[in-house]
Amino acid sequence: MIIVIDFGSQFNQLIARRVREHNVYCQVEPSDISIDRIKELNPKGIILSGGPASIYEENSPSVDTVLFDLGIPVLGICYGMHYMVHALGGVIQRAQKREYGFARLQITADTPLFKDMEPAFQCWMSHGDSTKELPKGFVVTASTENTAIAAVAHGKKQFYGLQFHPEVEHSVNGTLMLKHFLFDICQCEKNWTMESFSEGAISQIREAVGDQKVIMGLSGGVDSSVAATLIHKAIGQNLYCIFVDNGLLRHNEKTQLEKRLVANLDMNIKFVDAAEIFLAALKGVTDPETKRKIIGSMFIQVFDAEAKKIPGAGFLGQGTLYPDIIESKSAFGGPTSIIKSHHNVGGLPKKMKLKLIEPLQLLFKDEVRKLGLTLGIHEDLIWRQPFPGPGLAIRIMGDITPERLDILRQTDTILLEEIRKAGFYRKLWQSFAVLLPIKSVGVMGDKRTFGNCVAIRAVTSNDAMTADWAKLPHTLLGKISNRIINEVDDINRVVYDITSKPPGTIEWE
Ligand code: XMP
Repeated sequence: MIIVIDFGSQFNQLIARRVREHNVYCQVEPSDISIDRIKELNPKGIILSGGPASIYEENSPSVDTVLFDLGIPVLGICYGMHYMVHALGGVIQRAQKREYGFARLQITADTPLFKDMEPAFQCWMSHGDSTKELPKGFVVTASTENTAIAAVAHGKKQFYGLQFHPEVEHSVNGTLMLKHFLFDICQCEKNWTMESFSEGAISQIREAVGDQKVIMGLSGGVDSSVAATLIHKAIGQNLYCIFVDNGLLRHNEKTQLEKRLVANLDMNIKFVDAAEIFLAALKGVTDPETKRKIIGSMFIQVFDAEAKKIPGAGFLGQGTLYPDIIESKSAFGGPTSIIKSHHNVGGLPKKMKLKLIEPLQLLFKDEVRKLGLTLGIHEDLIWRQPFPGPGLAIRIMGDITPERLDILRQTDTILLEEIRKAGFYRKLWQSFAVLLPIKSVGVMGDKRTFGNCVAIRAVTSNDAMTADWAKLPHTLLGKISNRIINEVDDINRVVYDITSKPPGTIEWE
């Protein structure tokens, strides 16, 4: 295994994930980890992460420097490099010119880390400090226009430092550098796979839960389905899943889930039909935030009532992913303002006094998809586009009525059919229809019409934090529009949303 010492970088889980992409197990450890614990973990290599601090700042993060005497190769990234240089007798300084963003890296000396690379390429920098003097035995291996010492190496001790971030996509050859570190320098073996992760996770869940019961809310989405499947494999019928039908689902949603999880995987799922009470509570409500609040609290109420019927439950399972943790930190802990109150089961554990089981919390979305396939979940479920908790309620502008829900469901079904047929479903982050609160005049079969208008929204994105409107072919858009107007009563106009995020958001409410 490889360990990443956490110096506070927003990228440290990304580093771990990049290592895992090479089939080498990797975990992030706090910087106060003891030398005994490091010896116990027996890593083949150690990566010192970046971090926002400056090395001479009071209370800047540090790790026991005996780490450099263990004979284990070390790769320091950004602050991690400064830490190593400083700890081994070099000097760090405030850079005269800070460097943020792209820079051209020029290789100046041979090192196994840069094997088989062209002499110059793009890297991604983000630093205010830089290295002024090297410790004994180190050489400079690369520089950029603003940073003379952009990479360093101590060949004999196998210590390497990179001022830039090899883990981010913008650093050309970053993945190759990590590969060289893992296999040429640390002599790691490629033995970590999703199968081994799932075996480990299953036995950990078994050990933590024992013969107690776990309750879990299913949304029909990828994350909760994969987490539930993993927990199910660990404890079988002691997992009690609850699926709340809030009346705001798409066509066939519940049937799909029943087929994929109950029939294929024999999971214990209670389907609760709460459509009537959700729709009654939403009657006449048009304000987006009020809709969200009502749906959120109604969900907790219904879920809680169901959970109470399962006596002796000690745990609540959740499909939280690593990016969710980061996002909710910035949404609830940091200065970022809350744009929309997202509805999820985050509020449940405190109220229910259950211990949390979050088996996916170190994984990224694409890793979860791979895991799901490994666990035998059907591709249809694994490749589902995200669907918001408040469902179609936030895709109907204005009043939510059974009739308007029906119009939107029909529209959505046609849209998704055509998107799938054209091979775009997996390429898009999301594609959906929004029912607008206006009517417009049209002409059909020589008659005047005065009907509803829908907007089509299709976006590409990596993480939903930013998104671009999808440049779908005009022929496809034309076909979608024709079918919707011909097949859905009461719609006589279709428009395409060409707003990116920011300034728009993905959902309309
Ligand atoms: P926005 O509209 O904020 O959405 O750009 C970003 C992503 O989050 C999804 N979304 C939600 N997911 N509960 C969820 O589970 C919610 O309340 C919620 N609101 C938005 C949205 O579909 C998009 O993928």
